[in-house]
Amino acid sequence: MDSQPLAGLTEQEIHELIAAATAAREKAYAPYSGFTVGAALLAANGQIYTGCNVENASYGLTICAERSAVCQAVASGTRDFIAIAVVTKNAVTPCGACRQVLAEFNPHLVVIIADSFGRWQAFSLDELLPQAFGPADLGRERA
Ligand code: THU
Repeated sequence: MDSQPLAGLTEQEIHELIAAATAAREKAYAPYSGFTVGAALLAANGQIYTGCNVENASYGLTICAERSAVCQAVASGTRDFIAIAVVTKNAVTPCGACRQVLAEFNPHLVVIIADSFGRWQAFSLDELLPQAFGPADLGRERA
């Protein structure tokens, strides 16, 4: 895993982030899909903000774990993100909607995906969402 885009994160920081996402996954509310997801966002201030998926009987209202973590962080006053860990049973990458929401704050975010055995892999968000639409396209500075 040497050539991965880890942006200077240590192995210990990665494991802490995966542990936080794993704990958040325990809180997931996913009675319809049964697919539980936990996310943990590492901010530049060293704080970790977590989220889980929250489903709804009106299926389309479901919020993903990644966006739930972003809302948690932003509501706490933090917008400067370095990395996110996402834990599922089979190490899936974030959905398109979540990639777009993450790119709003850092298009170069480190995205670590892990499975329930702790096996992980890292990407840069630009690999997952190339040529992203963003604040600059509206003539705005990034947050
Ligand atoms: N889900 C996430 O939380 N994050 C993703 O990136 C993919 C999908 C959730 C939404 C839904 O509750 C369940 O996984 C199945 O789609």
